Amino acid sequence: MKRGNGRLSEGKKRAAEKVLHRVLLDVKPTPNEIELLNERSNELMGRLKAEAPRNVDILLVGSVARGTQIRGTSDIDIFLLFPKTMDERRMEAEGLKIAKRVIKKGGERFEIKYAEHPYTRMFLKGIAATADIVPAFKISNAEEMGSAVDRTQLHNKFVNSKLSQKQRNDVRLLKAFLDARSVYGAEARIEGFSGYLCELLVYYYNSFIGVLERMAELKLPLAIDILNKGSEKHNVSEVVKRFNSDFVVIDPTDRNRNVAANVSLGSIAKAALAARTFLDKPSVNTFYTEGYSDSWATGLLRKLKSLDMEVLLVSFRLPDMTEDILWQQLKRLGERMAHELRQHGFPPIQSLQNIRGQDAIVAFVLERREKRADVIAGPSAIMSGASEAFLKSHDRHYAMFLDKDKIISIENSKYATAGDVLRRIISQNNIKFPSYINKKGARLYSGRMPVRYQALLKEALEDKAVH
Ligand code: UTP
Ligand code: MN
Repeated sequence: MKRGNGRLSEGKKRAAEKVLHRVLLDVKPTPNEIELLNERSNELMGRLKAEAPRNVDILLVGSVARGTQIRGTSDIDIFLLFPKTMDERRMEAEGLKIAKRVIKKGGERFEIKYAEHPYTRMFLKGIAATADIVPAFKISNAEEMGSAVDRTQLHNKFVNSKLSQKQRNDVRLLKAFLDARSVYGAEARIEGFSGYLCELLVYYYNSFIGVLERMAELKLPLAIDILNKGSEKHNVSEVVKRFNSDFVVIDPTDRNRNVAANVSLGSIAKAALAARTFLDKPSVNTFYTEGYSDSWATGLLRKLKSLDMEVLLVSFRLPDMTEDILWQQLKRLGERMAHELRQHGFPPIQSLQNIRGQDAIVAFVLERREKRADVIAGPSAIMSGASEAFLKSHDRHYAMFLDKDKIISIENSKYATAGDVLRRIISQNNIKFPSYINKKGARLYSGRMPVRYQALLKEALEDKAVH
């Protein structure tokens, strides 16, 4: 496996280009699709213009405006830009009102969505794409920013002024490539690469292959400053510290923003694996995953069991809430439960979460074990106050001895199994539950469980597989 310093040989490069040419036919919207998207977004913008006051600008943003959308999956992003002098709450209310007024009777409908501001999602007739109508403040640079969504109009200008047609197609390839590994999108469920991040990476590393070469050889920490393309002069450790992250991509439109802030280590790892697979053996298969395979996960679960591993699952019923928030909370709860398991001597090998509709699960894969005793590390016997307190509070021990100066106590174990730890968590108040996850509906399963939870478990397990 020789790739030198991440550079592809000429032969491999030609093979890769050929594959990409083939994949692009699937990934780039057809001229008809692009025309339909443009036509419908123009028509909708016209309707909005007619309803909006004169001081509100209507702007097409996102991948449709930049020519970086993927075939068949595109959404139309339209911003209503209000004067900065307006009150934020009023801006939100006006935005919703204008969007609501343009809905046509008979076939069109809308939903209110919640991000930093509430916005309107429109379901149009005769086109699969939905249209998001987002209110924001009209600004010309990041200093004037009133809310995070205001940046979007600046992103639009930057990408449109910097990317060539070929690079826009390379963005499409990168999005499809990452999507095949479930790491496209900044939402909490995915914690992957956003569309804007893909655009910036292609600009910075010039091409799809340029980005992959870098991903394949990635070393963390990585900090890139898009504005200083070709002449990086910042101090990486200073940037890493300032943004408190090992993977920093400084937003060219806002020096205080890390565009890669939502990318998890797991997503970076998946992208690195996929990049190496593609560069070593360029093939369309890297773009077309086999999809979720129930039998693969079933086989794995059976094997784990035969190897004396155990799978524990806790199910929850979720309230009607923004999915992004639910995912954040479920992941946080999963971390707290894993911490509790580790604390009591049951370190999980895998922590898994998944959501479908109102169903949510947190699951753990662990070595099956039953514990009769806890080993508790006490203070140094030389410290009089602390060691006396320890002896007093641990007087029900089986045995106590010194490891050099440290007191070790062996006691009746608080929990015999990992299941006991989890059962206690869902029946008592020993860990804090996030606000939208209700302990009351929680159930613990080991081994047999309802089919719908099995499906969620298998899907989450598959998502962690190294292909
Ligand atoms: P989208 O999520 O629709 O992304 O946000 P996109 O670039 O259009 O990509 P696809 O093709 O739909 O997947 C629209 C724009 O809003 C800004 C970005 O400028 C993005 O291009 N945005 C979105 C953010 O700044 N932050 C976010 O978390 C989401
Ligand atoms: Mn979009």
